Amino acid sequence: MTEPSVAEVIPRRFSEVEPRVARIDDDARAVDGHPALGDAVWLDLEHPTTDSAGFLVDDRAYAHLSASDNTAPSDNAASDNTARNDTATPRHWTLGVAVAPEARSDGTRRALVAAAVRHVAAHGGGRIVLWVLGARAEDDAELAAEGLRPARDLYEMRVGLPITWQPKWPAGVRVRPFEVGRDEAPWLELNNRAFAGHPEQGGWTASTLARRTAEPWFEPALFLVAFDADGLVGFNWMKIHAAHDGDPALGEIYVIGVDPRAQGTGLGRALAIAGLQAVHERGIDTGMLFCAADNEAAFELYRSLGFDVHRVDRAYECEVPPV
Ligand SMILES: CC(C)(COP(=O)(O)OP(=O)(O)OC[C@H]1O[C@@H](n2cnc3c(N)ncnc32)[C@H](O)[C@@H]1OP(=O)(O)O)[C@@H](O)C(=O)NCCC(=O)NCCS
Repeated sequence: MTEPSVAEVIPRRFSEVEPRVARIDDDARAVDGHPALGDAVWLDLEHPTTDSAGFLVDDRAYAHLSASDNTAPSDNAASDNTARNDTATPRHWTLGVAVAPEARSDGTRRALVAAAVRHVAAHGGGRIVLWVLGARAEDDAELAAEGLRPARDLYEMRVGLPITWQPKWPAGVRVRPFEVGRDEAPWLELNNRAFAGHPEQGGWTASTLARRTAEPWFEPALFLVAFDADGLVGFNWMKIHAAHDGDPALGEIYVIGVDPRAQGTGLGRALAIAGLQAVHERGIDTGMLFCAADNEAAFELYRSLGFDVHRVDRAYECEVPPV
């Protein structure tokens, strides 16, 4: 088999190749039912760092490398992947790979990954993180050959709506929609506490939140905030996705959290149920969310509400020494 020929794309040419990359991603999406490239790639194509790089195999496959401190793929996390360089600690490199169906059996992805690894080695080394959406055992084997090992799984979970339960609020808790201009500071403080130690969700700033509440999909009525005598104690922020590519319209539990002081009191369950009810009242028949495989409390809550794992997204990582 001849080795596919990989052409490196420098940041100055990103805008030129972007339409080709979009076509490759569309081709992949048409068979997979989901895009291959996350928001982080599109953001970096628009605003690259000097060490960003693209790799093309004709119009059949594309890999994108950006130097970054963040590493996740899901919609809510990946769009926060603003590229930041940190020369004091080993660099994190986010790799995205899209391969059109006709190039999936000829070593194209391996050649792209190998080119990306060489680029990282030549630019100071560091940790490469590649998220594969809908990962399978074949992915583990193929990527292991290039030194990338499975590191973390993220589950996309779904449930048919309506669910049968009604929210049971703990005593003294009242719930209302999020109020822009009033709830930001306490929400940020609570979010960052509930997600302390979480690489993507735990470090939100006022501007991260402002960008989200300015998005066209944002609806305060679907962002529930719960208060007790001591103030904000929990929240459930829902996001509606229109039907596309054969996927039904989805009501996503976008971010849900309960103050550690009130965890285990039934508030998370009540918030989850209330949010799913709210999207169902808008005609949505499928609930959806992303859950880290090692988040036992959240996973158990979702399973008990009837959610099943719909897709497994897997982060593959490797440490690349500088050359
Ligand atoms: C996940 C979270 C929202 C759950 O809220 P909560 O108020 O603590 O949960 P509840 O008291 O309503 O419990 C609901 C169910 O969750 C599961 N659960 C909760 N805590 C658990 C734990 N420590 N271990 C295992 N299961 C647990 C149980 O199934 C429980 O049902 P049960 O009480 O009938 O056994 C909350 O733990 C949290 O904010 N975690 C940090 C942020 C986070 O991870 N968000 C989810 C991201 S996907």
